[in-house]
Amino acid sequence: MSASASHITSVLKETRSFPPPPRFAAHAHIRSLEEYEELCQRARENPEAFWADQAERLHWFQRWQQVLDWKEPHAQWFVGGKLNASYNCLDRHLNTPHKNKAAIIWEGEPGESRILTYQTLHREVCQFANVLKALGMQPGDRVTIYMPMVPELAIAMLACARIGVTHSVIFGGFSADAVADRNNDAKSRLIITADGGWRRGKVIPLKDNVDEALTKSTTIEKCIVLNRCHQQITMKPGRDLWWHELMAQASADCPAVPLDSEHPLYILYTSGSTGKPKGILHTTAGYLLGTSLTHEWIFDLREEDTYWCTADIGWVTGHSYIVYGPLCNGATTLMYEGAPNYPREDRFWEIIEKYQVNIFYTAPTAIRAFIKWGDKWPNGHDLSSLRLLGSVGEPINPEAWMWYHTVIGKEKCPIVDTWWQTETGAIMIAPVPGAIATKPGSATRPFPGIIAEVVDRQGRPVPDNTGGLLVIRQPWPAMLRTIYGDDERYRQQYWNQVPHCYFTADGARRDSDGYIWIMGRVDDVLNVAGHRLSTMEIESALVHHPKVAEAAVVGRPDEIKGEGIACFVTLVGGVPASDELKKELREHVAHEIGALARPDDIRFTEALPKTRSGKIMRRLLRDIASGRETVGDTTTLEDYSALARLREEEA
Ligand code: WTA
Repeated sequence: MSASASHITSVLKETRSFPPPPRFAAHAHIRSLEEYEELCQRARENPEAFWADQAERLHWFQRWQQVLDWKEPHAQWFVGGKLNASYNCLDRHLNTPHKNKAAIIWEGEPGESRILTYQTLHREVCQFANVLKALGMQPGDRVTIYMPMVPELAIAMLACARIGVTHSVIFGGFSADAVADRNNDAKSRLIITADGGWRRGKVIPLKDNVDEALTKSTTIEKCIVLNRCHQQITMKPGRDLWWHELMAQASADCPAVPLDSEHPLYILYTSGSTGKPKGILHTTAGYLLGTSLTHEWIFDLREEDTYWCTADIGWVTGHSYIVYGPLCNGATTLMYEGAPNYPREDRFWEIIEKYQVNIFYTAPTAIRAFIKWGDKWPNGHDLSSLRLLGSVGEPINPEAWMWYHTVIGKEKCPIVDTWWQTETGAIMIAPVPGAIATKPGSATRPFPGIIAEVVDRQGRPVPDNTGGLLVIRQPWPAMLRTIYGDDERYRQQYWNQVPHCYFTADGARRDSDGYIWIMGRVDDVLNVAGHRLSTMEIESALVHHPKVAEAAVVGRPDEIKGEGIACFVTLVGGVPASDELKKELREHVAHEIGALARPDDIRFTEALPKTRSGKIMRRLLRDIASGRETVGDTTTLEDYSALARLREEEA
């Protein structure tokens, strides 16, 4: 954590406020501020009783004996209980009117459409679970899933959950090396992939990436391949198996295994400020409770809703709010495979009109792109089915919020700006839309049962309207349990920064109405297009290149992506700087990590500005990268000329 982290100056002044539309509030799950405050009060006085009441919404094979066992920093929720996430998402809907309701509405990028009812989804999940069992997968084993956004991705996840296998989903945009690292860290026994997936009219060669990754993944025994795009690929005999061939022989009878509340449901890798990616571990009962409850209350879910979250399932948003939360609630969840601007910039609006989407959940980076593409695209479609809009992934700037409100929501849809993290599992701060007036740019108030505060480094609340560190005071059911294979890092990064608090690594301020305004990360993690990237990983990738001696990576404002990636690179002696080399380095990073980490700017420099103790002065680099004048203390700077020279460099 940087020294200045608890003294963040907040400059945002926003006074507009939008009360819940009365017609919306009248039918909402939580209808008034009083009702919301009562829930918060009850949860504050007796958190265990509050969460135990809510846990009744899940199906249990065996009830728990103890609600919470908390030995800081380790929580166990619903101790002694037995349940199954796949059963909760599927089986229990089968003897209700949900049986023939659409569970997943899927649209492929080329335009095909598939609708899986709860019953058909259940059948496919059972079959695939039998496939996994036949390949020897046992409860507790880890399986990697590296797939495009197709229903089979959700089927694979739910099949794992059904038999107690822990899945590790890797975003399809990651490179072979990233897949190999994650396979090795999780010690995955099996990988599920596809020949490819469609993105902007092109096929992403997933299987080729897997082939490369598997040359470095020592624990993988088998690879299951879905034929999505009819690509020419090589199938390695004995290792690679076709999805459709395995499924053709699999029985649809596969009872869900009763698992402990704390059985590991999944690992999802996310960026941390130091070292390799962190395998965030989520377990079963608390996670399912957190995602299903927040999904119902914050999106104010109704039986007849068509709900669309545009995230990729490779990120936590897709795990929690495309798959587990919605399916546990018996909702209809829409899944779209491809890009928002393919074949044209109105693809999302076309989908909303086609399926009469009621709830639309997307990211600020997408909203900024829509603004740039122009109002004619949404204005060319009937968006009147929409009744609630959501945002996630990064702070939404008030102007983007107003555009979303006006052009997409036609001033009638509440906007839920939802703050949360891979680690938190479920939404933590967001307006419960029938109860809380929204203010553009604020995630508003914590969910009932979540004790979020803005504090200094000692954990003392800072005065209202002062920037500080965002922490969570008490354990909550959907919280991460540890970093897979590295409990010490879990302690250090989340629980040893601010005494007796979960540290989010975000800065925030609270206004005098108790609203929280997120100010972004205080660690060395960039938020590029709503996705976390560690500067350290990009630096390692650069230094890996034989011509690079040293590298420092910082964020700089970017109109669309929120944050752009700016790199300062010192070359090995004698290597001449050139535009070709810049290009080569950008491609090198994209190859090592994934296209999403491709640097925006690269500057060559003879030296990096460092303190006398050798620490790179990132604040100065950030100023330079964003074209700002450097203000503040530079007295610890070792070599002033390094700074002057950097300024002269062209980006
Ligand atoms: C940022 C994504 C402001 C924040 C669910 C957080 C946000 C990080 C918001 C987590 C929001 C997410 N307003 N900032 N509504 N939502 N963030 O793990 O910095 O990919 O710590 O989880 O994104 O990113 P992650």
